[in-house]
Amino acid sequence: MPVSSAALDLESQTPCPEPSPTSSVHHAIASEVRNGLTSTPKTLTPWLFYDIDGSYLFEQITELPEYYLTRTERGLFATHADQIIARAAESSGSDPAPMLTLIELGAGTATKTGILLAAAVRHQSSVVYQPVDVSESALAAATENIRSNIPGVTVRCQVADYTSEPLPLNRLPHTRTLALYIGSSIGNFSPDDARDVLRNLRAQLLPGDKLLLGTDLAPGISKSVSMLEAAYDDRSGVTAAFNRNVLARINRDLGANFRPECFAHRAIWNAAESRIEMHLVASHAQTVTIPANCAGPQLTVRFREGESIHTENSYKFTCARVEALLESAGFAMAETWQDAAELFAVNLATAI
Ligand code: TRP
Repeated sequence: MPVSSAALDLESQTPCPEPSPTSSVHHAIASEVRNGLTSTPKTLTPWLFYDIDGSYLFEQITELPEYYLTRTERGLFATHADQIIARAAESSGSDPAPMLTLIELGAGTATKTGILLAAAVRHQSSVVYQPVDVSESALAAATENIRSNIPGVTVRCQVADYTSEPLPLNRLPHTRTLALYIGSSIGNFSPDDARDVLRNLRAQLLPGDKLLLGTDLAPGISKSVSMLEAAYDDRSGVTAAFNRNVLARINRDLGANFRPECFAHRAIWNAAESRIEMHLVASHAQTVTIPANCAGPQLTVRFREGESIHTENSYKFTCARVEALLESAGFAMAETWQDAAELFAVNLATAI
């Protein structure tokens, strides 16, 4: 998504309104929707989920009883934060132990990150934290939250799309960067794209810098496929609402006439690809019209009964897969922390 990158100084406490969609964002939405809905099979790109309503629904997903990911990763941080920070700050050879600077890709509202930042402050008394996200409003919330709860942290926000732009790292001399990529967002990329995202990050780092990567684990002894599917299809229907919201968003932003209630939410485990797939399945044959826009003329989209729009993938990892991914991007695994039920892993790696 072409989102303009801007270094934002939120330290001045200026209120940060949600930016109205610029014409370039509007164009990106229009052309992504056109490409996706004219493909076979039909798809929609996952970043379309995260408008204001979608971001709110996602925050609710993270608190659902079925959605074990957020809770489990937060538990790993709560138990191991001091050890994670100590290992990340370990000196190499006879050099003095470096100061860490923390940067976070896709920080969102940074609710889990506070645990790591508090540990960094315990370890080195103060820390610079650079959250990067495409959502200015999420960064404003993150800044406010951290500034009022964790003294010792200097927050420098950056509005940027880390998947397509080099990260502008303002490196302080004699510090080591610890990049955080948590929440298993890496699992929302295909294996090739995941490698490219990590390579793009690696290109901004120096040898010895660290990466903390959160990964959700593939089904195993204590994680069943049905547990995994429930995490993406909860009883109260929040995930279904989140998935369908993408259609409502297309109506709002492009004037289309989707009837979201005529599409069923489906979460399907694809064992061959080791991923959960999210689909919206047409409950009966129907036609949707998207008026002419900057990306092209009026579009008529026909759905057969049972035809699906594939909206998202969430890849699930084994330790071996995580290690191979890290290696392919120029990192070496240093240490992994997992919960007792082997649901989720937090991996510390070194840029080589
Ligand atoms: N990154 C989240 C994940 O893969 C996104 C997510 C959670 C999601 N639930 C969803 C995406 C439902 C689409 C539909 O866990």
